[in-house]
Amino acid sequence: MTQAILPPIGMLAELTHRCPLQCAYCSNPLELLKANREMATEAWLALFDQAADLGVLQIHLSGGEPTLRPDLEVLVEHLARRGVYTNLITAGVGLAEGRMEALAQAGLDHVQVSFQGAFAPTTEKIGNHRGAHQKKMETARQVRAAGLPLTINAPIHRHNIEEVPAFIDLALALDAERLEIANVQYAGWALLNRNALMPERASVERQVETVRKAQEDLLGILAIDFVTPDYFAMYPKPCMGGWARDAFVVAPDGSVLPCHAASTIPDLVFDRFGDKSLAEIWHQSKAFNAFRGTDWMSEPCRSCERKEIDWGGCRCQAMAIAGSAAETDPACAKSPLHARMATLIDEAMAADREEFRYRRIGSPVLERQ
Ligand code: SF4
Ligand code: FES
Repeated sequence: MTQAILPPIGMLAELTHRCPLQCAYCSNPLELLKANREMATEAWLALFDQAADLGVLQIHLSGGEPTLRPDLEVLVEHLARRGVYTNLITAGVGLAEGRMEALAQAGLDHVQVSFQGAFAPTTEKIGNHRGAHQKKMETARQVRAAGLPLTINAPIHRHNIEEVPAFIDLALALDAERLEIANVQYAGWALLNRNALMPERASVERQVETVRKAQEDLLGILAIDFVTPDYFAMYPKPCMGGWARDAFVVAPDGSVLPCHAASTIPDLVFDRFGDKSLAEIWHQSKAFNAFRGTDWMSEPCRSCERKEIDWGGCRCQAMAIAGSAAETDPACAKSPLHARMATLIDEAMAADREEFRYRRIGSPVLERQ
C-alpha cells in the first residue's frame, strides 16, 4: 500500500564545504564545492522560510565548517524568528572572540562540538590541524559560558577507539549534556579511507561494553548516544530515519538530497532549490520517491517484520557494497551479502593501515601517517 507523504521535521543545512580540518572520515562527497558555489544569504533565508512553512521544526547548521559563513548570525536569527530549533554542528576551531555569545544572542538553541580525539595528539593528527584540541576545548567552554547546551560528538574509528573512556571523561569535564559516540559511517571520504579507519573486532567489543556501563553509571548526568557500527551489527540502522521520511539534506549549492551521501547513487537526479520549491522537491522529486516507504523493497525486506523499523537500512551502503541502492543493506544479517561485511573487515585488517587520504578540495592525495 502506498504510504502518505508526511511533512519533514528535520533538515541538515550544509552551509559550506570549506573547513579548517581535513578529517579522513568526513562524510562529505569527494567532490567538495568551492566557496563560489555556495548559496548566498538571501537564498538560504528563502529556503529556511519554505522549510518552516513545510513543517520543519529543527535545522542542523553544518558543513564543512558553518562558522566560516560570516552570515551565520543572520541565518540563526531568522530561524529563531520563525520558531525553528537550531543546532550548530562545529569543529570548534577558529571562532573569533565573542562569536559564540553573538550566536546565542541571535537565538541559537544548541551546539555540537566534534572532537577527533580525547587527547591533543590524536585530535591534531586526525584533523591535520595543529592546536585544534586546545581551540575545541576553548570553544566548548564558550558554549557553556553563553548558556547553551553542549553535545560532544566523537567520530570513532581505529585511530581513536581506545580513547572512548577518555571521551566520556572529556564530555563530563566540559559539562556536556550529551556525548555522541559516533562510529564512522563509510560514506564519502570515510569510504575512501575504509581500510585505514576500520577498527578491530576486539576493540569494538570493548567499546560496546564500556559505553553500556557508562550509560548506566551516568544516567541523568550525561546522555550517551551509541549505535553498534554497521559492519559489526546484525541489523542496519534506519538511516536518516528512513529515506525521505522526516528529514533531508541541503548541500552548499542548494541541491536538496534525501541524505548526505545520496549523490553516490548514480541513477538519481537531484533538484536544486530555486529551480523548484522545497515543497515540490519533498513531495514530487523522483529521487525522494525512489526509496520512500516500503513499496520499493524486494525480499528479504518486503516480508520482514522490521521493515518499518529500519526501512531497509542505508541505500548508500547498499549501493557501495551490493552495487545497487535497491538492495537490502548488507549490514543486515538477512541480506545474502551480509558475509561481505566480515570479508571487508578482514581485507581492511590485511591492508596497509597507515595510508589515508586527508579531506581536501581537489583530488584525493594518498598520504602515509
Ligand atoms: Fe531491515 Fe530489510 Fe534486514 Fe528486515 S531484511 S531487518 S527490513 S534490512
Ligand atoms: Fe544515504 Fe544512508 S547515507 S541512505
